[in-house]
Amino acid sequence: MDKRRPQDVLNLMQQPPAIKRNRIDAPMSIRGPIPNGPMHPRPLVALLDGRDCSVEMPILKDVATVAFCDAQSTQEIHEKVLNEAVGALMWHTITLTKEDLDKFKSLRVIIRIGSGYDNVDVKAAGEMGIAVCNVPGYGVEEVADSTLCLILNLYRRTYWLANMVREGKKINGPEQLREAAQGSARIRGDTLGIVGLGRVGTAVAIRAKVFGFNVIFYDPYLADGIEKSLGITRVYTLQELLFQSDCVSLHCNLNEHNHHLINDYTIKQMRPGAFLINTARGGLVDEHALAAALKDGRIRAAALDVQESEPFNLPTSPLKDCPNLILTPHSSFYSEQSVSELREMAAGEVRRAILGRIPDSLRNCVNKEYFPSPANSTVRFPFSAAALSAEGLNGAGGYVAFNPAMAAAAVAMGVHPDQRPVGSHSIPPSSAHSDANHAGKAEGSG
Ligand SMILES: NC(=O)c1ccc[n+]([C@@H]2O[C@H](COP(=O)([O-])OP(=O)(O)OC[C@H]3O[C@@H](n4cnc5c(N)ncnc54)[C@H](O)[C@@H]3O)[C@@H](O)[C@H]2O)c1
Repeated sequence: MDKRRPQDVLNLMQQPPAIKRNRIDAPMSIRGPIPNGPMHPRPLVALLDGRDCSVEMPILKDVATVAFCDAQSTQEIHEKVLNEAVGALMWHTITLTKEDLDKFKSLRVIIRIGSGYDNVDVKAAGEMGIAVCNVPGYGVEEVADSTLCLILNLYRRTYWLANMVREGKKINGPEQLREAAQGSARIRGDTLGIVGLGRVGTAVAIRAKVFGFNVIFYDPYLADGIEKSLGITRVYTLQELLFQSDCVSLHCNLNEHNHHLINDYTIKQMRPGAFLINTARGGLVDEHALAAALKDGRIRAAALDVQESEPFNLPTSPLKDCPNLILTPHSSFYSEQSVSELREMAAGEVRRAILGRIPDSLRNCVNKEYFPSPANSTVRFPFSAAALSAEGLNGAGGYVAFNPAMAAAAVAMGVHPDQRPVGSHSIPPSSAHSDANHAGKAEGSG
């Protein structure tokens, strides 16, 4: 086993020459200039909360060094990444507050590998001159299909009936069936209320119509007219939607205005015995209020793909003893196709940031307003074409474990079969084999 310490793994990277960076601090920044530090000739891009970069590497290896941190908080991120990473890729399992963002000294672009970006302080990032991008649209169909799946389960009780059969319950005759399938309901003619008619909400509306739902929606941010295009009904207050709906499905993004949109007060505005589905964001629902409503039957059944605190821990949740509840682990977006599409799109956005100008060359920058003037908004990513075209300056894109614990673990465990260690040419043959599976450089690296 390779006995090198995490620091040794990090040291395998060549020492960066000090080069002067272009500055792209937001012109309206209230924060001081981003301090200069030693700069890598090839931009460092870090995957903050994961370790598999196998999709991203082929897209980025000719323009960036790619590191993974596998961190759950910025406390677990190695100093080298905090100092030098100019691009960050992140799933939804890490949060970047203003204080967290402050720790990054060279960061210029954050890509949320997903559509929701409520786990990043977008305003603070903008004020620091850091562009934040998301990847909207990659899994719209999957989330909409999963939502319909949950709605159908609540109406048809498939989940509970299938569990009864699995548990060996024998259901003989109409009386037993009535008891087992109690609560199963007909869909046609019921009203589905969609809160937030964006990409997912629209896809849900289109699907729900086919099942015979009367579809209504509430979305205060949309101009009139969309209801005509889709042949659905618009209501102008949440109260009206809750009052009319037999089934309420949440599809709005979580923002500072709608935390606990569904709470004790708004649940009282729902039809007695209505269904609730949330595949949007956990923070939209007050789980204590939902638990109470499920227990006393004010809400007949609920299905949640997202929870207030994730990863979800049922034993400590207010929802732990609730009847008629289906919980899934924030998996609505997932399909093999959607995830590889998502990761390709996220890596593509980093590539555009590196090769182009921020924010003009970004497709999905969500804080563009912090880069107001066209003159200032077309500042190049702080890496000269010369540095990028100087192939072999630092070898090709690397793939390095930067979480100290992970780096140590990587020594023992291995990460990716295709990758050789950064600077593997300098590693004695005896240790090359154990290193070949981790913390290594991409194929084709020099
Ligand atoms: N569970 C998953 O796996 C998963 C995957 C992707 C997206 N999501 C979540 O699904 C939700 C919808 O995603 P999307 O891509 O359709 O987003 P979107 O931005 O296209 O649509 C969101 C819509 O919600 C509306 N809205 C915002 N606040 C509202 C409010 N208080 N009341 C009513 N409408 C409001 C907006 O105007 C917008 O039209 C987001 O919360 C996203 O984070 C979940």
